[in-house]
Amino acid sequence: MKNQVKKKILELKKEKNAVILAHYYAPDEVQELADYIGDSFYLAKIAKKSTADIIVFCGVYFMGESAKILNPDKKVLMPNITADCPMAHMVAEGKIEEMRKKYDDLAVVCYINSTAELKSKSDVCVTSSNAVSIVKSLPNKNIFFIPDKNLGAFVAEQVPEKNIILNDGYCPIHAKISAKEVKAEKEMHPCSLVLTHPECEGDVLAISDYIGSTAEIIDYVKASLCKEFIICTEDGVKFKLKSDNPDKKFYFPTTRPCCADMKLNTLEKLLFALETEENEILIDGKTGEAAIAPLDKMLELAR
Ligand code: 13P
Ligand code: SF4
Repeated sequence: MKNQVKKKILELKKEKNAVILAHYYAPDEVQELADYIGDSFYLAKIAKKSTADIIVFCGVYFMGESAKILNPDKKVLMPNITADCPMAHMVAEGKIEEMRKKYDDLAVVCYINSTAELKSKSDVCVTSSNAVSIVKSLPNKNIFFIPDKNLGAFVAEQVPEKNIILNDGYCPIHAKISAKEVKAEKEMHPCSLVLTHPECEGDVLAISDYIGSTAEIIDYVKASLCKEFIICTEDGVKFKLKSDNPDKKFYFPTTRPCCADMKLNTLEKLLFALETEENEILIDGKTGEAAIAPLDKMLELAR
């Protein structure tokens, strides 16, 4: 049955000149079949360069939305249009305007995990793999970092010369990773290294050997001579970690970090999207147009 679904997906993909992009947190079977798998930054770059007529984005809504903003003339579909990132909405109404009034040299730096509307009100977007270097490169002293307070605090620590104003958003999946559970894993596996996504809380970051985006964690493991790792990010990364490093061991906190929204991207839903071309991402013209500049600025500054 699964093989039939996969066969049909591959046939339709060819017939319709579609490309399948999957985030590292998507289910294993979807990552296995995708043309490109990666972190938010890599997938945004691929979406921008794509020559396909249809982009099927196996991730959460803000990722598909970013692909659409960068490709307004292309059809962008999602296997499940309800797959959303709760953090993407976590900026209180009127907060950006309030901050702009308070600081006249303010730069609003918007983590890509945000709605198109928030992006459209921002100066530049960032992802977890380029936030530090982009914030460093801005001429502004005052930075309002939205929506993630944890990534914002991590950036503030790396770029002490800036005044970084934090917002109260967070990723419920990464915020649930507790330092106590990480320490317990470390006691059980004393030779392991702790690798952590910057969306985790400060006390987890403080006991980590390395902090990076999902792609940076994957690259770190590949290059490391160490054989055991405690992974503090969503458990979907295990697919790539295992396939790249069959000889290495990976441990996760006991309360398994699993993003239910990312797991809505099943093979069956992917087939449905390709067959019906439903679940199309549509963005209202004005918002989409205003959101292009901050995304393009990110791609340019990160080059
Ligand atoms: P990356 O930027 O590392 O892909 O992370 C995306 C994400 O949703 C993290 O929770
Ligand atoms: Fe959003 Fe967190 Fe899921 Fe990433 S893991 S998509 S930040 S809820």
